Amino acid sequence: MSATKSYDVTDHVYDVVVVGAGGAGLRATLGAAQAGLKTACVTKVFPTRSHTVAAQGGISASLGNMGEDDWRWHMYDTVKGSDWLGDQDSIEYLCKHAPAAVYELEHWGVPFSRTEEGKIYQRAFGGMTRNYGEGPVQRTCAAADRTGHAILHTLYGQAVRQQAEFFIEYFALDLIMEDGECRGLMAWELETGQIHRFRAKTVILATGGYGRAYFSCTSAHTCTGDGNAMVLRAGLPLQDMEFVQFHPSGIYGAGCLITEGARGEGGYLTNSDGERFMERYAPSAKDLASRDVVSRAMTIEIRDGRGVGENSDHIHLNLNHIPADTLAERLPGISESARIFAGVDVTKEPIPIIPTVHYNMGGIPTNYHGEVLTKDGDDTNKVVPGLMAIGEAACVSVHGANRLGSNSLIDLVVFGRAAGLRCAEILNPNEPVPEFKNGAGDKALARLDHFRHAKGSTATAKLRLEMQKVMQSNCAVFRTGDVLEEGTHKIRDVQKGIHDVSVLDRSMVWNTDLVETLEFDNLISQAMVTMDSAANREESRGAHAREDYPDRDDDVWMKHTIAWYEDGDTSIDYRPVHTWTLSNEISYIEPKARVY
Ligand code: FUM
Repeated sequence: MSATKSYDVTDHVYDVVVVGAGGAGLRATLGAAQAGLKTACVTKVFPTRSHTVAAQGGISASLGNMGEDDWRWHMYDTVKGSDWLGDQDSIEYLCKHAPAAVYELEHWGVPFSRTEEGKIYQRAFGGMTRNYGEGPVQRTCAAADRTGHAILHTLYGQAVRQQAEFFIEYFALDLIMEDGECRGLMAWELETGQIHRFRAKTVILATGGYGRAYFSCTSAHTCTGDGNAMVLRAGLPLQDMEFVQFHPSGIYGAGCLITEGARGEGGYLTNSDGERFMERYAPSAKDLASRDVVSRAMTIEIRDGRGVGENSDHIHLNLNHIPADTLAERLPGISESARIFAGVDVTKEPIPIIPTVHYNMGGIPTNYHGEVLTKDGDDTNKVVPGLMAIGEAACVSVHGANRLGSNSLIDLVVFGRAAGLRCAEILNPNEPVPEFKNGAGDKALARLDHFRHAKGSTATAKLRLEMQKVMQSNCAVFRTGDVLEEGTHKIRDVQKGIHDVSVLDRSMVWNTDLVETLEFDNLISQAMVTMDSAANREESRGAHAREDYPDRDDDVWMKHTIAWYEDGDTSIDYRPVHTWTLSNEISYIEPKARVY
């Protein structure tokens, strides 16, 4: 009997299976269920523990509650922030639908902070401007500094209300692909050890980013890009993986996030001379320049010996000039984090911070409906039937080479909603779900079985740490060809270690040894694609800062990288950036130099 035959499999049939229960997954689940489609949401953590819960500062939308605003200005800022790698049709879709998406959240019960007149409170965030760059605008809608938490709880309640079915603490193993189409999903129920096979008309991946490929990140331990890795194993490419965002304010030593909203409320950075150095790097936007700019400025200050602390290796974020009652009302969460993780009273002392990996601009290529795309000959927009992706897992691409703060939460709900609408449009609940061919899911079980019985001598934790250190030092804020080239070799050495991995626990019930090994296998393929894509792109754009190619080169490089991974190696090709808009309400925004 083959190993895979020894697993007892429970079968399920749905119109739509969503994988992941963060903001994007829950919004898509809710939308599909609302449309009368039989919908399941498969998630490895309890929905309200998904990483969206950690989003602090807010969600962008041009509501104009704190001064005049316009979705076209939001679109201009997002294109500029993306350093002209974003697809402008998708960006138009995002910015135009943002206000309605936020009001929908408000009506569903998100407890937004309020202005004196009772409107949704909005704060300033980096790169958000009025009238095409004239000056800062307050566009980021906030629920104190716990906006993601508020949104996640609301969306979960609404999805349950729509009778969506949840499969909680189920670890997604792999997609079931037949003849280039997605037919379903294999998953492992951690509490019982049971294997489940989902047959569906559409699978929507909403599995988040892969921040845990790095040593220091703001991402939860669960952020291992499981959906991205499933896509690679399905023989499909990932897009723009070289663009990894460092958030300027991770707590020094702990990595946890101090929201950009802290600078939005008036916080500022200083070096060891007590200088507000951002005035030199971004005379206009200063501390609220976009994240790539601030992270690079901090790194240069530290490299030039003006870092603070015993080892001159971090920077100060000052909030102590802000009235204590404002800090208590607007920034209670980060005040607590600073106390717990840095031992700092924000009303009296600066917070020690350092740029920390925060977000993956790259991911699964999709159109603005959430449909997954691949390249097939000259067709660079070939839709993969039955497969969608949304949220940080996807590369739609609205963030291009660099995401603006608070454009992530709005991406989740706008494209989560778009995916639900697309399902409603193309799926008929009265039609049967196609049957599987023989052997559906066997490959996924063979992989599970292989790692479950791995008898090597290297602990997964050791391999994971090696990977994280290579990514942290060889694929960092600043990059050079030599350092990246070294990185491509080092990361391959780590990858080879998977053949000698040791898994000691052979059980199926809550086997965290096996979960972590599967997650490492997921992470290492994404780490390799990231390193190789970064070594390949010989220009600087957004978060990809090459010291040996300091300029953006639109003639050669205004294109998306797409990268495949097979048998421990990668291959690279390109897709054109979408240089058109969706409607005649705004025309294509021509590339120009970024000035801050
Ligand atoms: O700084 C923050 O609150 C993070 C927001 C974001 O990444 O969008």
